[in-house]
Amino acid sequence: MKTYVICGLSGRAIGHFALPLIGNPKLPEYGDYSAHGRLVAILDIDRERVEIFNRNQGCAVPYYSADAFDRMIAETNPDVVVVTSPDVHHAAYIIAALRHNRDVISEKPMVIDGRQARAVLEAERASHGRVRVAHNYRYPPSHQAIKRMIRDGLLGRIVQAQMIYLLNTSHGSSYFRRWNRDRAVSGGLTVTKSCHHFDLLNWWLDDVPEEVFAFGARNYFGADSPFAPSPRDGRDHSVAEQNEGCPYYRRWKAKGADLPKDDHLRAYEAAFSIPMKTQYPRELGIYDKEIAIEDTYSATIRYRSGASVIYSLNASSPWEGYILGIHGTHGRLETTFRAGASCIGDERPEIVYYPMFGERQAHTVPHVEGGHGGADAVMKHDMFVAPDRESDVLRIAAGARDGALAVAVGEAVWRSVAEDKPMRIADLLGGDI
Ligand SMILES: NC(=O)c1ccc[n+]([C@@H]2O[C@H](COP(=O)([O-])OP(=O)(O)OC[C@H]3O[C@@H](n4cnc5c(N)ncnc54)[C@H](O)[C@@H]3O)[C@@H](O)[C@H]2O)c1
Repeated sequence: MKTYVICGLSGRAIGHFALPLIGNPKLPEYGDYSAHGRLVAILDIDRERVEIFNRNQGCAVPYYSADAFDRMIAETNPDVVVVTSPDVHHAAYIIAALRHNRDVISEKPMVIDGRQARAVLEAERASHGRVRVAHNYRYPPSHQAIKRMIRDGLLGRIVQAQMIYLLNTSHGSSYFRRWNRDRAVSGGLTVTKSCHHFDLLNWWLDDVPEEVFAFGARNYFGADSPFAPSPRDGRDHSVAEQNEGCPYYRRWKAKGADLPKDDHLRAYEAAFSIPMKTQYPRELGIYDKEIAIEDTYSATIRYRSGASVIYSLNASSPWEGYILGIHGTHGRLETTFRAGASCIGDERPEIVYYPMFGERQAHTVPHVEGGHGGADAVMKHDMFVAPDRESDVLRIAAGARDGALAVAVGEAVWRSVAEDKPMRIADLLGGDI
């Protein structure tokens, strides 16, 4: 049986790693992998969170402070270090774990920029440990089906793809009242969020991104938002003042608001509700003046094969999901996915394949229950037990190189916006990628 330590007892860590390893029979929706792995320590900046977690779960997982990583390894001797803190801290924990020759499972994004990615790749080369990145968007059945269709050659050689990604007004706005809104902590939305999408594109196309050009702006959040309260004699607005008349708050947070079932954020809030006093000494508001990241992007990516991709992200959309098209020499596939947290309900994803000279063929992918379109349960099995055959065939487990490429595209997007010029991935990651 493998032993695990967790660095950062985040919402994601609890739902995806801690509860499955503990196997709480009262919370069967998180899975029970206690026969396959044991959680032997939790490291966090906030001791109280770990104490409350232990109390809630009736367990006694030892706590370590953030400066006690080496002592934690010496005392608990884990096989695997799970890295689930806010993004900027991933690199330090991954590199420290590799220095101790431990395997690592890191949440996405693996790191926040190319500089950190290079350091991780270098540390992995010098270690017996291996890095795995929890790119769970590879796992939903529809995403595996797209991978299979491309791999089986239905489209011929891929020449072009389009991905329009929409975050709804609940999910999108939530990033602006969490640590993710600070580029120094998360890399901004094109890293912390879009790394999912760039990893999918890289994996589906089985290609290496080389150059990126992008435009972007902040249209919805921060002090310049059209919804922000009017400026007032240099004084900041409190969050309560911001919420008065705020349409995001009225729609999603206000008492009595007509809330649809949200399979993403709400699950965390309801199931865990453990305070985060150290991370958030004060509540953050979506119109705070320190918000500096963009919420709207349009980008073009050129791949090594010559294929090109257009990608856009909007973080304040009436519905959540994406519109995808992938075009090859021999056909095109298309799908539109509307996520569960959307205002307009679920939809079973249908992938439509158009042979270049033939009839339209619709493939309906069965709906699977569970977090992230059923992805989370399959990924937990692959991680804690063993990958199934199909996971191996599709090369579904993402490694450090995959993690680095996804992050580098995200960094290239925001840097291209900031510097108004194309960015080369090799310049961010070094030539050897
Ligand atoms: N794969 C997915 O779909 C998915 C979904 C959500 C989050 N995530 C990723 O999971 C990670 C956690 O995100 P979250 O939103 O759940 O976090 P969170 O805000 O819920 O929790 C962060 C935790 O880390 C702790 N922390 C802060 N600084 C730390 C440090 N220096 N060292 C150790 N611990 C520290 C905090 O006290 C808190 O317990 C991020 O990397 C995020 O991008 C992935």
